[in-house]
Amino acid sequence: MNLGEIGSSAREAINSATTREALEQIRLNYLGRKGELTEILRSLKELPVEERRVLGSEANVLRVELENMLADKTANFGEAGEMVADITAPGKKVSRGHLHPLSRVMADASKIFAGMNFSVVTGPEAETEYYNFDALNIPANHPAREMWDTFWLKSGKGDKQKMLLRTHTSPMQMRFMEKSTPPFQIVVPGRCFRYEATDMSHEVNFYQLEGLMVGKDVNLGNFKFIIEEFLKKFFVGQKIEFRFRPSYFPFVEPGVEVDIKLKGKWLEIMGAGMVHPRVFEYAHYNPKDWQGFAFGVGIDRLAMIKYGVPDIRLFYSGDLRFLKQF
Ligand code: DAH
Repeated sequence: MNLGEIGSSAREAINSATTREALEQIRLNYLGRKGELTEILRSLKELPVEERRVLGSEANVLRVELENMLADKTANFGEAGEMVADITAPGKKVSRGHLHPLSRVMADASKIFAGMNFSVVTGPEAETEYYNFDALNIPANHPAREMWDTFWLKSGKGDKQKMLLRTHTSPMQMRFMEKSTPPFQIVVPGRCFRYEATDMSHEVNFYQLEGLMVGKDVNLGNFKFIIEEFLKKFFVGQKIEFRFRPSYFPFVEPGVEVDIKLKGKWLEIMGAGMVHPRVFEYAHYNPKDWQGFAFGVGIDRLAMIKYGVPDIRLFYSGDLRFLKQF
């Protein structure tokens, strides 16, 4: 056999070997003391210098190649000879990342409102007491403040205001109104914080989407229509039942809550109502000229209902077994 033939027959033998013993036998056949390749290497010294140089280097390249192939393949078998890795197996699929379900719901919800001509704006997570409470008609010492368990921030040098982590996205109502002239309609997706015990439907950190529509004759009927449109689009293909129920928030009058029926139980997903005249006064709008509705919907609640997630804490667990399902 010449060098080329030795090479191809050795490679073929290694590739089709299925046990450690077979590989060892192949090593002996080609590289052992009486192996085919060894014979060639040994006979080199009888050749003229020129031929010896060419054939010698080719033979050595082949020797290294076969040694490597044998070592690689032998490593696929455990001590007991069992297969530990199959180099002939198809490659692993590279999995692509995707948005977190809450990011996805927030983006989807914003998009639906954008499709109804709402602008999407965002605001700061560290807020002043004024925007989070006072300007929303929730003065200090008002019992309604207890509706929002608050993370207060240590005041730093030069802070004129008490700072906190916003307990809802509602402060953006005032921030936006101060800088805008109605009519307008906006939504504000964002992260909120509450200093409270966690359970399956409460987290210290959660997401809301605030809505505000102000115009000459915006009424509660408009609100009902917009929200019905939103829910139909968001839960497209899912049969959902919802209801409006009177409620109280200091910054709206009248106030309502929207519930969705889930497994026979009503689950609150949003607070809303007609913007309180006092709030318009804080924004220097004449409440006799302007009317509006506002709402704040829980993004986590929407996600739980849409994807059938039983516990809000799963969203924040960072558990890939959970996240990979979306
Ligand atoms: N900010 C309220 C909360 O987090 C929800 C809410 C209620 C928002 C009524 C509104 C509203 O805009 O009009 O509990």
